[in-house]
Amino acid sequence: MILKGKKGLIFGALDDKSIAWKVAELCAAEGAELVLTNAPVAFRMRGETNIKVLSEKLNCPAIPADATRIDDLEKLIDESQEKLGGKLDFVLHSIGMSINIRKQKEYTDLNHDFMQKSFDISALSFHKLMQSLWKKDAMNDWGSILALTYIGAQRTFPHYSEMAEAKALLESFARSFGYHFGERNKVRVNTISQSPTMTTAGTGIEGFQEFLDYSENMSPLGNAPAQSCAEYCVSLFSDYTRYVTMQNLFHDGGFSNMGMNPKIL
Ligand code: NAI
Repeated sequence: MILKGKKGLIFGALDDKSIAWKVAELCAAEGAELVLTNAPVAFRMRGETNIKVLSEKLNCPAIPADATRIDDLEKLIDESQEKLGGKLDFVLHSIGMSINIRKQKEYTDLNHDFMQKSFDISALSFHKLMQSLWKKDAMNDWGSILALTYIGAQRTFPHYSEMAEAKALLESFARSFGYHFGERNKVRVNTISQSPTMTTAGTGIEGFQEFLDYSENMSPLGNAPAQSCAEYCVSLFSDYTRYVTMQNLFHDGGFSNMGMNPKIL
């Protein structure tokens, strides 16, 4: 029970394939008390595995909030502290969406209004979240803030489109805010760069299955599954990683350090 007594806020559980879903389940199993949140539209999703189902299963509150809206975030942070009876020890940002990818726009023909919205949802929301936590002084000392990212931020994967820039921005926010939170609260801020994973966000990318296979073969350990990502997240919320901060941590079976794998030739 490495999270016993810790209080956490988890963004992004859409269905049981979501990485955040698996993180929430494991955090609960490791003894944490949780508040779940997602965009209001996620609360209107039907189907057997939506956020309300998870909230009942884990017996924890689920509060709707659009992560691009400061007023929603502030209300969410207030309510979370009320429900949990104190400040937060950890926060997971597991949010990503590209409107240009959804609309299957080519990278050389992107709509810049859509791009701004994509950056707002996928990257600025992380700064908005951290700034709201900061102003409300809502993090306990030695807490942990984590966001999920992808190696498209460093290398070119043509179908990843504008999400490459969104993730580069997200990772930079982690470093910059990591400084401020570290100095004031000893709070650490990191990003986990995860292998391609079969989720709603993942499957929105063109040719995702082929890409998943390529990445599986390129990585000596194979693609890291969502459940293992959850395990890594839990380790970063635990007291065993208290001096890890301002890092982009690859959780990718070795993909990021490979140049060529003969298996693929
Ligand atoms: P997912 O589709 O299950 O999760 C994305 C979440 O973002 C959803 O729960 C969605 O409701 C939420 N979201 C969208 N707009 C929002 C808004 N305005 N306010 C609040 N929440 C909003 O997919 P997945 O894969 O679990 O994605 C989680 C994170 O992992 C994302 O940051 C994604 O980019 C990242 N990631 C995913 C990989 C993959 O291959 N699936 C690989 C590497 C990183």
